[in-house]
Amino acid sequence: MRKRFLSTLALAGVAAFALTACSSDGGETDSSEMAAGDTAGDTVTVGFAQTGSESGWRSANTESMKAAFSEENGFELVFNAADNDTAAQIAAVRSFINQGVDAIVIAPIVEDGWDDVLQEAADAGIPVILEDRTVSASDDLYAAWVGLDFEAEGVKAGEWAAAEYGDTETKMVVLEGTTGSAPANDRATGFDSAIEGTMIEKIDSQTGDFTRDGGKTVMEGFLQKYGVDGIDLVYAHNDDMALGAIEAIEAAGAVPGEDIKIISIDAVHDGMQALVDGQINYIVECNPLLGDLAAGLVTDVLAGNDVEKTVYVEDQAFDQAAAEAALPDRAY
Ligand code: AHR
Repeated sequence: MRKRFLSTLALAGVAAFALTACSSDGGETDSSEMAAGDTAGDTVTVGFAQTGSESGWRSANTESMKAAFSEENGFELVFNAADNDTAAQIAAVRSFINQGVDAIVIAPIVEDGWDDVLQEAADAGIPVILEDRTVSASDDLYAAWVGLDFEAEGVKAGEWAAAEYGDTETKMVVLEGTTGSAPANDRATGFDSAIEGTMIEKIDSQTGDFTRDGGKTVMEGFLQKYGVDGIDLVYAHNDDMALGAIEAIEAAGAVPGEDIKIISIDAVHDGMQALVDGQINYIVECNPLLGDLAAGLVTDVLAGNDVEKTVYVEDQAFDQAAAEAALPDRAY
């Protein structure tokens, strides 16, 4: 594949962002060593800008990406996790451009602010594949996107809430994902549209940043403000925040899943276990296993093959009985 070497600027970028590459023994090596010595042969060098490590979903997604972009599969993966810091994630992408990687994969933390760096990648002739989250920039600036339909996930969650609780007065609080992220925006839109005209009333909504601690802290605040009896339903944009909310509800002396119902999204192992245990009432899946599809898109794009611009992966949804049946065979 195309071979380029690090400029002085790129080396400075590498040091600053501590990018790492996955080696064949499963360890990680400094990417400056990789760029100086490992570009021989047909190895495809891919820079992957991950959001961070905020949730169980994210860990499963990172594992899936690392497994797919492995040396055995012909890739050298330059991995960066931005700790949910958009400026750091954009800087990591700039560093990939300066290194002259063959392709860049991004899981964009937020939707806005990508135009300039995507244009820089296009100017450098480096194709960009988006995975998981979407951007508001023109789709001319990236080759393809693979992920989930976040709005449909919100609709599924909202339809279940409407069917279960829509006929009685229900006070709902929302634990939002990261502000400005595609899943937080779209899951809110989808859910709100599905409960329109029902007796479910959204009394508050705040971001817990997709983390367990964030969900717990925000839920503690809601419980202080409204009291255990003032909240009937929690809609959490992911399982980790729901799990944090469970801790807060228990600490307030109430029973999660009974006194206060909980609906969430992801269906990671811990969330599914809480659903089986009756602490969560319903979960809509968000499949994190996107690595093989992303790697396939990179391969096709670099080979000049036509690819679908948007590739949706299908999600399921689980009530308690479905979770019980599915949990033993869950891959994440
Ligand atoms: O973008 C997908 C979302 O990001 C997942 O639902 C959440 O758990 C993660 O942090």
